[in-house]
Amino acid sequence: MAQLLTIEDLRIQAKRRVPRMFYDYADSGAWTEGTYRANETDFAKVKLRQRVAVDMTNRTLASTMIGQPVSMPVALAPTGLTGMQHADGEILAARAAHKAGVPFTLSTMSICSLEDIANHVGSPFWFQLYVMRDRDFIARLIQRAKAAGCSALVLTLDLQILGQRHKDIRNGLSAPPKPTIANMINLATKPRWCLQMLDTPRRTFGNIVGHAKGVGDLSSLSSWTAEQFDPQLDWDDVQWIKDQWGGKLILKGILDPEDAELAVKSGADALIVSNHGGRQLDGALSSIEALPAIVDAVGGRTEILFDGGIRSGQDVIKALALGAHGTFIGRAFLYGLGAMGEAGVTRCLDIIRKELDVTMALCGKRDINTIDENILVGGREEALRRLAAG
Ligand code: GLV
Repeated sequence: MAQLLTIEDLRIQAKRRVPRMFYDYADSGAWTEGTYRANETDFAKVKLRQRVAVDMTNRTLASTMIGQPVSMPVALAPTGLTGMQHADGEILAARAAHKAGVPFTLSTMSICSLEDIANHVGSPFWFQLYVMRDRDFIARLIQRAKAAGCSALVLTLDLQILGQRHKDIRNGLSAPPKPTIANMINLATKPRWCLQMLDTPRRTFGNIVGHAKGVGDLSSLSSWTAEQFDPQLDWDDVQWIKDQWGGKLILKGILDPEDAELAVKSGADALIVSNHGGRQLDGALSSIEALPAIVDAVGGRTEILFDGGIRSGQDVIKALALGAHGTFIGRAFLYGLGAMGEAGVTRCLDIIRKELDVTMALCGKRDINTIDENILVGGREEALRRLAAG
C-alpha cells in the first residue's frame, strides 16, 4: 500500500474502500458546495511567520477544551452515519480518540448507539444533540447521554432543516443501503467493507431506532430530518435543554456575531464556530473567515471552539492564531476511518499532531497555549485582509 502521509492520502484511500453513497455523504456540501470548498481553501490565504534560531526543545501541545485536558486541542467532530464509513465506525473512532487523548463526539445520527460507545470504549465522550419535535424522546436521549457518562453535550443549532446535498439525492442515501441494482454493482467493488458490515449488527441509526415512537425502520436521513427535526427550535428551547442536561453545554453552529452574543447570554460553556462543514447554508462565510468577528463579539466571556475545513496541523494552528481555543476535525477523521478503520483514525490524528508540532516549532513557539496572532504575517489584520480579498 502506498504510504499514507497526508489527510488527502487518506481521502483517496477512503474513496476506494467506502461505498459511493457513504463516501459522497461525507464528501459533499450544500447546493454549489461553495462554502464547503471555501472552508478548506481559505486556510491557504492565512500566512505564517517563519522564525529562526529559537530554542525548539521541550515542546508541548497539551491543552484543555471546556476545562478537560487534551493531548492537543483537536476533537473529533460529530458526524452522521460514521458507522457506514466502516463497520462499527463510531466505536473505532472513539477508541482511537481515547488512545490519542482527544475528545470524541458521538452524533445523534450515529450508527453505533450511546450505549455501544459506553460499553465498548469506556472513557467519557461528548454527545451531540439534534432537537426533534418529540420532546419526550429528547428528554430520554439526554438521560441516556448522562447514563452513558458523557462529559459534554454539543447542541447543534444550524440544522433545523437540512441543506440540500445533491449527491445524497442522486445516490438514494439510506442506512443500510437499499438493494437496488446500482447499489449492488457499487457494493460488489467494496468487498472488504461488505464483509466487515456483514459481521456487525449495527447497520442503522442506533440512538433512534427502537427508542423513538413509531420508528421501526429509519433508513433515510433526509426524510427523518424533514419529519422529525424541530423547525421551531429557539433560544428558549436551548434553555430547556441546558436545564435537562445540567452539565457542560457546547453550542455548535455559531457563524454570526449576533448569535455569538445570544450564545454567551444562554450561559453555554463554549460555542463552536461552524457552518456544518459547508453542508447547510451555501454562500455563508467560511469558518476561518467568520472566526475573528466572533472572537471580538465574545470578548473572552465563553470558550470559542472552531470547526470547518481543517485538513492539517497548519490549519489547526491558524485557527488558534485567529482566536480559537480548540478545534474539531470531521471529514479528516472520516477519511482515515474509511481508509483503515481504527488505525486510519489514529493515522489521521498522528498526521495532524506531527504537522501541528513541527509548524509550531518553525513559527518559533514551544507551547501551543502561547499561540496568538503574532505567528501570522501582519497579525490578525493582515490575515483578515487576505481572507476578504478572495
Ligand atoms: C448531519 O449532521 C449532516 O450534516 O448530514
